[in-house]
Amino acid sequence: MLPPKPPARPDKVSLWRYVKLFRQDILSAQPAKLYRAWMAEFRTPFFRSFMVNDPKVLNRVLKEQPDDFPKSSRVSEGLRPLLGDSVFLTNGDVWKRQRRIIDPAFEGGRLRDTFPAMWEAAESAVSRLETGVTEIEEVTSFAAADVIFRTLFSIPIEDEIASEVFSEFRDYQRSQPIVNIAAFLPMPRWMPRFFRRRTRETAKTIRGLIRRLTQARAAEIAAGTAPDDLATKIMTTVDPETGEKFSPEEMIDQVAIFFLAGHETSASALAWTLYLLALYPEWQDRLAEEAEQLEACDFAVMSKLKLSRDVFREALRLYPPVPMMVREAGCPVEFRERHVAKGSQIVLSPWHLHRHERIWERPDEFDPERWKTESGRQCAREAYMPFSAGPRVCTGAGFAMVEGPLLLSMLLKAFRFELIEGREPVPVAHLTVRAKDGIWLKVGRR
Ligand code: HEM
Repeated sequence: MLPPKPPARPDKVSLWRYVKLFRQDILSAQPAKLYRAWMAEFRTPFFRSFMVNDPKVLNRVLKEQPDDFPKSSRVSEGLRPLLGDSVFLTNGDVWKRQRRIIDPAFEGGRLRDTFPAMWEAAESAVSRLETGVTEIEEVTSFAAADVIFRTLFSIPIEDEIASEVFSEFRDYQRSQPIVNIAAFLPMPRWMPRFFRRRTRETAKTIRGLIRRLTQARAAEIAAGTAPDDLATKIMTTVDPETGEKFSPEEMIDQVAIFFLAGHETSASALAWTLYLLALYPEWQDRLAEEAEQLEACDFAVMSKLKLSRDVFREALRLYPPVPMMVREAGCPVEFRERHVAKGSQIVLSPWHLHRHERIWERPDEFDPERWKTESGRQCAREAYMPFSAGPRVCTGAGFAMVEGPLLLSMLLKAFRFELIEGREPVPVAHLTVRAKDGIWLKVGRR
């Protein structure tokens, strides 16, 4: 049995129907031919957009000329009330300075320091999980949020402010679906600015809560009593080029994105991985056996969780949590001998790239062994980008590749996850790839 894939739409539909489909879900609004195309063009009355699946063109956009393809302002508009000028939305020199301050906190060596907090979050997830029929996205969202609060601020999700931020974020997501569609839909540029009032209010509440956390931390840093976690690291790092640190307001923007980018994505990936393991119980058993090696909290154990890592990578291929990314052509360019005007939207789609029929062998099959083959390795280099690529690659990629396999292994050591008949999840794109009606599994003790 193949892992669930959303139905494609017919090749030709009217613009009106396309808009309607889009409002439901970006993934099923696309025709099947995008899984074979190197490039596709969408014309709208207001702008052009191009979806690019050609590894050479992707390389150009992300690695060779990243400054010529800034993040699209059409997409960021919807997130701005919440994220302000966070590193996820900025471009140019502002973005470069922010990365210089943030990147050191996520370097390899720091991951080792962050590991005990992740381990504690994983243990808590195991002790919270109850047996029986369970909606798994909820479980993984809670666990991933816990990881972020513990690693960033040394507080568990049960902390009062942490749990409030968590529940407000859910409201925010429900109230602003426009984010996903702004780049494709033929809307004039001013449209997405009309945020619903509720969206703006929720954003303000979340930022108020985060402000309390960053202010308290600034005071602890001043008093010399701050814990050695990611927040302290980021708030005390001086940009080597300008000699500046983040201002307290800027830090709020960054915390908001760490929370959003860091927990939504990992939650989606973990939930889909658990579903895949329920679908392929022989893999689940192999991972549970491997997980027997988890004893005491020791970073070195990560090098032993090889199967867990391969399975997690394969889940990120089939269900990339960020299904599409959008850039804007900052100058006129030619892609595959086609003219791309300045201001065109360039859609990069890990979703289509990872299942591309002309690149991958058996693209829709779950096969964690593929990473060991020569063709799998080549695809991993050229056509695999769950974390994006180039200078704008996800800052949390290394972090997520520890968190994912660790949580997975801890859960599988203690529990068994089984399918429930008639409850096959249908992937849809919200802020991240989620299941239309959740991912339901039967949880039992191992
Ligand atoms: C499985 C988990 C994750 C996936 C699949 C993922 C994926 C991505 C992708 C695709 C981007 C690029 C978006 C774009 O260019 O439009 C991105 C950016 C980012 N991610 Fe992640 N991410 C994950 C986990 C995390 C974690 C754990 C953190 C932080 C703790 C994080 C922080 C960020 C930040 C700050 C950016 C913005 C980077 C920039 O624009 O310079 N992510 N992520």
